[in-house]
Amino acid sequence: MKLLILVGTTTNTAECIAQAIEMDCTDLVDDIEVRMMDGLTVDVFNEPALFLICSATYGSGDVPDNAQGLYASFDAQPAFLGHVRYGVMSLGDQGSYPMTFAMGGRRFDEKLADLGAQRLGEIWTHDASSDVPPEESGVAWCREWLQTHVPALKAAELIKA
Ligand SMILES: Cc1cc2nc3c(=O)[nH]c(=O)nc-3n(C[C@H](O)[C@H](O)[C@H](O)COP(=O)(O)O)c2cc1C
Repeated sequence: MKLLILVGTTTNTAECIAQAIEMDCTDLVDDIEVRMMDGLTVDVFNEPALFLICSATYGSGDVPDNAQGLYASFDAQPAFLGHVRYGVMSLGDQGSYPMTFAMGGRRFDEKLADLGAQRLGEIWTHDASSDVPPEESGVAWCREWLQTHVPALKAAELIKA
């Protein structure tokens, strides 16, 4: 089974987390790919993979610029995503943006759920105003997330690749 991590970022914290997962979690899935969201559309969810949205938050609780096209395509090209299983890692800054903390990943979650996709586990958040190291804590969460969900997905043969 392939883990496809879709990265929404501006200053690359989300990308660094995704790359750390790519390095560290190879024992838990057959393949891991990190893909920036630039230029993607909802069609990416037709690929046979377990998806992990790893997105920061900008504006007033919006998705980052490089994620805008993908996010807009959920409305522009509505699709049924009942076959999709995904997790969400959402980055924000609770100290500076308490009202919109980590809304970027949550926005993806809402749209994906509307289109019939099923989230596995709770949304992981990272607060840039905390002392929590993003890569270390993100990898730890992802390892547990994969250990919890991959065996059942393999048994169900829902995701072939
Ligand atoms: C201009 C600007 C706007 C931001 N808006 C929000 C926001 O609305 N909510 C939030 O939780 N974090 C917000 N953030 C914080 C970022 O999401 C956070 O620093 C994140 O770790 C950046 O991830 P990145 O390096 O992958 O882009 C904002 C940061 C900047 C610079």
